[in-house]
Amino acid sequence: MLSINPYAILAETVSPVFMQSFVVAMIILVVIGTIVDIVHKKNVKYFFENAKKAKLAATKTLSTGEKISVISKTIVSDIATTSELGKGQRRIAHVLGMYGTVLFWISSVILIFCYSNASSDTPSVWPIIWHLGAIMTVLGGSWFWFFLRVDVYSEAQPWYRIIKADLFVLALIASSSFGLIWSYLQFLNLQDRWDDKVFLVFYIISNLVLFGGVYWSKFAHMFYKPGAAIQKNLAEADGSRDNLPPPADAPEQFGLGIKREEPKHY
Ligand code: HEM
Repeated sequence: MLSINPYAILAETVSPVFMQSFVVAMIILVVIGTIVDIVHKKNVKYFFENAKKAKLAATKTLSTGEKISVISKTIVSDIATTSELGKGQRRIAHVLGMYGTVLFWISSVILIFCYSNASSDTPSVWPIIWHLGAIMTVLGGSWFWFFLRVDVYSEAQPWYRIIKADLFVLALIASSSFGLIWSYLQFLNLQDRWDDKVFLVFYIISNLVLFGGVYWSKFAHMFYKPGAAIQKNLAEADGSRDNLPPPADAPEQFGLGIKREEPKHY
């Protein structure tokens, strides 16, 4: 199953042009959702105004080489390995889900645009990456949602409590899970049975929710976070520190209570 291209089987009943148009529509939804989000929250305007203000407090002018070095380190550490999330499970779960999603989306585009004819001879590497990416997304996303999200991990809310903030992670898990189940059922070749078609519909709906819900969900953090990390590290290197005071030059004395449990109350 892992090496079978589910879109080539689907092409026996659905035109590849329809699948390709769906992908383009999803990209348009993300662009519109992000623009409306930016206009509504004014976050990007604030970001640039704040960066301009912070620049005035800079104690050092960075050379182009220094800037390139800071940005490269940010890409390798903050962005590629989400170092903001520390060393623990939160970071591993995020990296698993993030790379899973990237692999799932890239391979979806390749399979749909290059190999979605019923007669396509798909190199098995792409369907394998597609299935692997979906599995990684389900594992990373579920790990985060069931065990690590702050309202469950730190605020003792039950795992089944769902709020608007869960829209992104749940839609992500749903689209990958339904994609996997649909692919498996199609692979079983159940002839006239409807099972695979039901899961194809679920797969389509969850994608509409994921890509159509950008304005209401945390989807756009994947664009904002890298920009914010670069700005933060440049502000640290030029001494402006985003107008924040430097760390106190005093011993860290928090009392013995700090050792009683791992810090997890935000
Ligand atoms: C394809 C790219 C990405 C995907 C699929 C992704 C996925 C996710 C998911 C599912 C969550 C949990 C959302 C929630 O709170 O319900 C999350 C949270 C988060 N993401 Fe991402 N992300 C991506 C890119 C990034 C990047 C590039 C960064 C940083 C540079 C980043 C930093 C974070 C942080 C700091 C959180 C909060 C985690 C927490 O609350 O413990 N993400 N991401």
